[in-house]
Amino acid sequence: MSRNAKCSQAEMHRRSLSDPQGFWAEAAEGVHWYRKWDRVMDDSTPPFCRWFPGGVMNTCFNALDVHVESGRGGQPALVYDSPVTGAVRTFTYRELRDEVARLAGALARLGVRKGDRVILYMPMVPEAVVAMLGCARIGAVHSVVFGGFAPRELAIRIDDARPKLILSASCGVEVNRTVPYKPLLDRAIEMATAKPERCVILQRPQEQASLTRGRDLDWSEMVAGAGEADCVPVAATDPLYILYTSGTTGVPKGVVRDNGGHLVALKWSMKNIYGVDAGDVYWAASDVGWVVGHSYIVYGPLSQGCTTVLYEGKPVGTPDPGAFWRVVSQHGVNVLFTAPTAFRAIKREDPEGSHVRRYDLSVFRTLFLAGERCDPDTLLWAQKILDRPVIDHWWQTETGWPIAANCIGLGRLPVKPGSCTKAVPGYDVRVLDEAGREVPAAKIGNIVVKLPLPPGCLPTLWNNDEGYRQSYLSRYPGYYVTADAGYKDEDGYLWVMSRTDDIINVAGHRLSTGAMEEALASHPDVAECAVVGVADEIKGEIPVGFVVLKAGVSGSPEALVQDLIKLVRDQIGPVASFKVAAVVKRLPKTRSGKILRSTMKKIAEGTEYPIPATIDDPAILAEITESLAALGYPRR
Ligand code: COA
Ligand code: AMP
Repeated sequence: MSRNAKCSQAEMHRRSLSDPQGFWAEAAEGVHWYRKWDRVMDDSTPPFCRWFPGGVMNTCFNALDVHVESGRGGQPALVYDSPVTGAVRTFTYRELRDEVARLAGALARLGVRKGDRVILYMPMVPEAVVAMLGCARIGAVHSVVFGGFAPRELAIRIDDARPKLILSASCGVEVNRTVPYKPLLDRAIEMATAKPERCVILQRPQEQASLTRGRDLDWSEMVAGAGEADCVPVAATDPLYILYTSGTTGVPKGVVRDNGGHLVALKWSMKNIYGVDAGDVYWAASDVGWVVGHSYIVYGPLSQGCTTVLYEGKPVGTPDPGAFWRVVSQHGVNVLFTAPTAFRAIKREDPEGSHVRRYDLSVFRTLFLAGERCDPDTLLWAQKILDRPVIDHWWQTETGWPIAANCIGLGRLPVKPGSCTKAVPGYDVRVLDEAGREVPAAKIGNIVVKLPLPPGCLPTLWNNDEGYRQSYLSRYPGYYVTADAGYKDEDGYLWVMSRTDDIINVAGHRLSTGAMEEALASHPDVAECAVVGVADEIKGEIPVGFVVLKAGVSGSPEALVQDLIKLVRDQIGPVASFKVAAVVKRLPKTRSGKILRSTMKKIAEGTEYPIPATIDDPAILAEITESLAALGYPRR
């Protein structure tokens, strides 16, 4: 019997830390390799660490071809369910492999080679998944940009990734509108300095895009007549994708994911964390533009031989709060993964959970939640209406798979609502004080992971080793800084409470308030500004802006606020949900000039706050309270 088989989470965790090489070598046996690795882990150039150097494999082969060859060709691989367009389509493993091989052939015909970058700016359609896997098949590096981002954000990513090609679509379909993508793409390319050679546009029936002659190609023409491409063997350490995520400045970070370690970790997580086997139906109700979509719509479930569901819809409004239960029942979903915000939205419209009773959920086993802290009320409510285990688990774009969870495949631990349970095997999670000392149980501190990070986690930032070191590894030498704060309780359960930087979490989407402040500051009338994340019943947090006008500026504050809202929407995107701003005379600051954002947040949330000892003028706080009251804050 293998040493990793049927152990408890605690035993597995101990073994993963005492013998990481043995632990991950055994996990890697589940992956198909053209050539096995020379070493499991190479940490000879600290603080960097590479997994499976010398190993040669292909991620797409592991996600598709392996299953066709082992007799799963006729099993559904991908179910596309789109209540916003009325479409439902199923692809078997063989069909998906063939589609992907053709798309990969078409990319190769356009000159895309191993190591070239391809940006995808796409809605939740099967072609997005096909394109990701098609890139992986020929060793090209994809970078998916979420469709809710504005042209400026796309342009920043284009300039950093320098793609040979951009794949996009004529439009996205939201609940009550289509969002034409092509004008956004054109504006982004205009703004970018690294112009791609070509763009390929998927024409959707809801909206036709006009193509730019000489640059744009129609998707169906690109694929027509293309031969099927074989999988290109790549080094385990070669990049599979770049995914940009919000950092502490307006410039997003290009998180790099490698091929080998990533696949080993994801496949391990499918069985041990999520408790799923080949043939199970797994649904991550997220978007391919986020890390959850990469790991658990595409690479994780497919590498495990599951059927994965791609859902182009919302938890409510498409058409009702029973949408999730309809999908679970129609497609026989065994495991669902989504963000707590989706459940808060369902709860608001269907507090009794009456829609659940309309559907047969007999094969449904477990609900996993992540993306933001899950408040105990939401967890308990979900548990009650579903009568199934509800598991909160914690991770980040950077890690690509969970850092802490209740590992269902290793025997479930008791759930403590509000806690993401315990560190997952592979992660040595510690809580440190400002001086780098471990804090006692129940005391809040900075959550870090002792190096080396397990396979699957970012080896670096794209073209930016120094940025990687500075952002994550320099604060506490020997540790990776998660930028989350929290504590471990007496039982070793981890409680992740808040960020330690300017990142806020809006409906499970990670956003930088610094980037929003940059957008506000670009308005000619704005002298100074601050954006804080304020607790929101549905979205968890929403951004609230405060602006001070330049001397002599006149005009209606209401009109200015509308301009500011449009500015953030245009510069960052609708996903920021920036809808509230107050014009104030001054911002509260310390005597050294630091803006007291956390005090403003507390005022808006109606929580007790001490008057900061270092504040230069406490009277400002009353003014801020008044401005917020005029906007209806605090809301309870
Ligand atoms: N393309 C274009 N616009 C998009 C978009 C996309 N792919 N995705 C979202 N938007 C727009 C929305 O239309 C909305 O625009 P509006 O301000 O004009 O209404 C805005 O961005 C905010 O979208 P969203 O955050 O989805 O809010 P919502 O109010 O439409 O829905 C929830 C709220 C809670 C139902 C929704 O956020 C949700 O389902 N969240 C699930 C969480 C999730 O997927 N998290 C990912 C990590 S696991
Ligand atoms: P992202 O990189 O978009 O996945 O966002 C990662 C961040 O979301 C983390 O650093 C946390 O701040 C937050 N987060 C994600 N999952 C959880 C969770 N289960 N509990 C608390 N915070 C979470």
